[in-house]
Amino acid sequence: MSILVTGGAGYIGSHTCVELIHAGHDVVVLDNFSNSSLAAVDRTRALAGEDFSLYRCDIRDREGLRNIFQKESIDAVIHFAGLKSVGQSCSMPLEYYENNIGGSVTLFQVMAEFGCKKMVFSSSATVYGQANQAPFSEDMPVGGTTNPYGTTKLFIEKILQDAYAADKDWSVSLLRYFNPVGAHKSGRIGEDPNDIPNNLMPYVSQVAIGRLPYLNVYGDDYPTPDGTGVRDYIHVVDLALGHISAVERVLKQTGLEIFNLGTGKGHSVLEMVRAFEAASGVNVPYQITARRPGDVAVSFADCEKAAAVLGWKAERGLAEMCEDTWRWQKNNPDGYEAAGE
Ligand code: NAD
Ligand code: WQD
Repeated sequence: MSILVTGGAGYIGSHTCVELIHAGHDVVVLDNFSNSSLAAVDRTRALAGEDFSLYRCDIRDREGLRNIFQKESIDAVIHFAGLKSVGQSCSMPLEYYENNIGGSVTLFQVMAEFGCKKMVFSSSATVYGQANQAPFSEDMPVGGTTNPYGTTKLFIEKILQDAYAADKDWSVSLLRYFNPVGAHKSGRIGEDPNDIPNNLMPYVSQVAIGRLPYLNVYGDDYPTPDGTGVRDYIHVVDLALGHISAVERVLKQTGLEIFNLGTGKGHSVLEMVRAFEAASGVNVPYQITARRPGDVAVSFADCEKAAAVLGWKAERGLAEMCEDTWRWQKNNPDGYEAAGE
């Protein structure tokens, strides 16, 4: 089957393209390269052992999207394209709403125009907000997001639910990711933040490589065993494999389903620092600072539904997540930029 991967040059998209091709699917990548590079696509092709079409296109560009659907025979779309920085979304909310929500609506309209109504969407555990208690399960009420980025995910979920309510030909899988970390085993593709990283593991690995002096640990007074925040870290290759299961299911049926993609286990910030030090053999200095506004104390998934319905389960543990993050960081100390490809 031929799968259009929006944002396919990005962190999760590139890993998913490798696994899609290994699973026997054809891939078409669309990206505007606002947060990614051509080197990632070249390396993805090399790892997958296969060429695929690439379109430099923005999801807000209706004619550009039509051109892709005219040229390619697309069976389903995996929709990763979007802006994802929580902090930036607070300072540029209108850009986030336009890019993520406006772009998604344009994409869904063009899909419908071409009779392609099979969609796997990158949502986030952030939609569970602050009122729910972990483990988060898919039937919990969502809302109460603490930043515009999170609100874009909430709204796009709702838009797809409304599209399905109005037209039962749609087949939609809403995937709520927990905390993706790690990189491909080869050390060739991985997460390459543009600026100072917002997320924990890229920050830790940049401290380890010497690009940043120390980690700020945001609070040690949470009601958790060591006082630091607890999250459900999932290896990006496990996450990618979850997309293969989800897309194969939407290809077979219609309906709208929601799945958590996590491991079901929570780890604290300090546990992650220790696991990373063990995997890398490098000391990661840190200092405790104030809590980061909008953070919850504990977030981890109830993964029963994905296991029961998709037959998918995350298999890679903390040591592998840290080893693979470190291999990517060590081999690409300045990310893709210095690759000269
Ligand atoms: P990423 O930034 O590496 O990938 C997103 C890609 O989309 C980038 O290559 C970017 O250039 C592209 N893009 C952005 N706006 C676009 C537009 N208007 N048109 C075309 N391309 C555009 O991010 P990622 O970590 O791979 O995340 C992929 C998706 O998963 C995003 O939607 C993100 O919100 C979601 N998600 C990520 C996480 C995480 O922690 N990484 C967690 C939950 C959900
Ligand atoms: C993890 C833990 C921090 C950085 C965010 C988004 C979410 C999703 C994934 C994606 C927390 C602590 C972090 C640092 C720290 N988005 N931390 N020092 O906040 O669970 O989720 O990314 O597109 O929508 O909100 O992930 O990696 O930022 O933080 O102490 O420098 O690490 O307080 O406990 P989070 P994170």
